[in-house]
Amino acid sequence: METVIEVKNLRREYVTRRGIWKREKRVVKAVDGISFAVRRGEIFGLLGQNGAGKTTTIKMLTTLLAPTEGTCKVLGWNTFGEEKRIRARINFIFGGELGIYRRLSAWDNLRYFSNLYLIPRREQDAHIQKILELVDLAERADDLAETYSKGMLQRLQIARGLINDPEILFMDEPTVGLDPVGARMLRDIIRRLKEQGKTVLVTTHNLAEVEELCDRLVIINKGKVVARGTPAEIKGGAETLEDAYVKLIEGVNV
Ligand SMILES: Nc1ncnc2c1ncn2[C@@H]1O[C@H](COP(=O)(O)OP(=O)(O)O)[C@@H](O)[C@H]1O
Ligand SMILES: [Mg+2]
Repeated sequence: METVIEVKNLRREYVTRRGIWKREKRVVKAVDGISFAVRRGEIFGLLGQNGAGKTTTIKMLTTLLAPTEGTCKVLGWNTFGEEKRIRARINFIFGGELGIYRRLSAWDNLRYFSNLYLIPRREQDAHIQKILELVDLAERADDLAETYSKGMLQRLQIARGLINDPEILFMDEPTVGLDPVGARMLRDIIRRLKEQGKTVLVTTHNLAEVEELCDRLVIINKGKVVARGTPAEIKGGAETLEDAYVKLIEGVNV
């Protein structure tokens, strides 16, 4: 099967300065030599505690941040140096962030982003309609986004992420802050994306979600991979995936 994401010995350090005259230098190893590969059509999970390095990894994969060291390839191209080859073919949504205009309707938001991606005008209506149906927002398409629930806003974000028909969608904590119904709708949408042949890389803290959704995953802790495999493989003999996860993290941190 075709590999669409290839990460090898990837590292990223942040250098921060503090103290008087900012003389005190501190180096944070946010991502400390991780490797994994994602195949086309997979829902792949990136798991880990707060500060584990998930967002930093996603930023490098989506060409937003340069690696300090290692290989980071998407669709066969380096995310740094060959990023122009990648950008039109991927998209991303960051959970906490709102990449949409609240004073516009869903339809007008998507029209705006279609224009940014230079989607021909005559194709826009059908394309937008299709995406709105996929994320279950067609009926509210003309209402202003500021009238939407958190779950609806999150679905509109996904719609925005689909506007360039990406082969790979990166989602950083897409269900964060959603109620159970909202989170379930989001999982349904992620499954629909898979049915359409898209590859999804998703980060989350929710282990039930991972068990239900992900084909394979890696668990990272303090910038390093501590486990990899299918949810069943990682669960092993443990009662639940959560038990296995807690054991892994505690095993590393003790
Ligand atoms: N811009 C930054 N400058 C300095 N340190 C950062 C920056 N962004 C993240 N970090 C640090 O890098 C580590 C990994 O962060 P992050 O990738 O956001 O983890 P996660 O998404 O898993 O919570 C954390 O220790 C965090 O404090
Ligand atoms: Mg994060």
